Amino acid sequence: MARPRIGIIGGSGLYQIDGLTDVEWRRVESPYGAPSDELCFGRLEGVDVVFLPRHGRGHRISPTEINYRANIDALKRSGVTDILSLSAVGGLQERYAPGTFVIVDQFIDRTFAREKSFFGTGCVGHVSVARPVCPRLGDALMEVGPGLGIDILRGGTYMVMEGPQFSTFAESELYRSWGCAVIGMTNMPEAKLAREAEICYASVAMVTDYDCWHQGHDDVSVEMVVRVLMGNAEKAKALVKSVLPHLGGHEGPCHAGCQTALEHAIMTAPEV
Ligand code: ADE
Repeated sequence: MARPRIGIIGGSGLYQIDGLTDVEWRRVESPYGAPSDELCFGRLEGVDVVFLPRHGRGHRISPTEINYRANIDALKRSGVTDILSLSAVGGLQERYAPGTFVIVDQFIDRTFAREKSFFGTGCVGHVSVARPVCPRLGDALMEVGPGLGIDILRGGTYMVMEGPQFSTFAESELYRSWGCAVIGMTNMPEAKLAREAEICYASVAMVTDYDCWHQGHDDVSVEMVVRVLMGNAEKAKALVKSVLPHLGGHEGPCHAGCQTALEHAIMTAPEV
């Protein structure tokens, strides 16, 4: 039976996980540079977990400055098999109201100032990210979320913008016309790199605002994001804790293929 080690990437407002035992913050070296912070190793609900605050403790690293490759590489080196990624987002349609959690299943990557691949410099690989979210992790999150009293929705596209400024009204309307569910600044290239690293990945997008399109709501501001996030942090922690025992238990690699993504992805001829 596969014994998982769960990586938890915490976004704005989530800088630690409560209730961990055997806690140890450890620096993990990566050839890609420095991860956002030390990694916090521990156990929760009998499961090995590794927590990484995406922006660093104290929120010092902007979405553009995050070294996504180092973060994913450090988690991989730490034996992580599955990643639960948590982040604050804006809702782009009426049904994605502040306070809602969305288990997104697609992304549109409009970021342009980030290193996005482990491939290149002598080794060319093209990994499929057609279905970037692990359905097994999504199923598990949906199994436990509603029972915790969380307003949780399955599916929807997360528009990933570069930031750090929020969107203009015209941009917000454009993304809405594309049918996007939510908007945020951090899930790409994180999700792509997780797939290249053959780690299952699911994103819990926590809606804090209606961006700037909704006539009945103020335009998004940091104050608004933080206020709603504070109200949601306990729910996010409860969700993580409850889902852990539901992960793993499968024979061999993930049946969805996330953990074997490189099998047919490498173009470069092997050295002879
Ligand atoms: N994070 C939280 N709300 C956001 C928004 N409206 N746009 C981008 N990132 C966000």
